[in-house]
Amino acid sequence: MSAQVACLADDVAVAAALRVELYAADGGLVEVAVVRDEDGELHAISDICSHGQVSLSDGEIEGCTVECWLHGSRFDLRTGKPLSPPAVRPVPVYPLTVDGEQVLVDVDAPL
Ligand code: FES
Repeated sequence: MSAQVACLADDVAVAAALRVELYAADGGLVEVAVVRDEDGELHAISDICSHGQVSLSDGEIEGCTVECWLHGSRFDLRTGKPLSPPAVRPVPVYPLTVDGEQVLVDVDAPL
């Protein structure tokens, strides 16, 4: 499966995140956080924190990072790498493109 519509660009405010569910080519459900950073750029990152099973879209956006609300690990929205403990594993980041009003995400080709 290739890129699919995740949401509309206007659905995601600056420094906010929207949780969406997309289907991978194998039929599995992928939970994605579509995040607009403080500079207005959109990113698609796994919605599931690599430290626990909680939703990153409920976290706080600062700069180009999202902070997990449960234990405070901060993840880089471009790379998915944790910038602070306790998380040590990155979370997947997915290619995102904007086509007119539509935000397209490819969950089968993590960056
Ligand atoms: S669950 Fe996210 S940092 Fe612990």
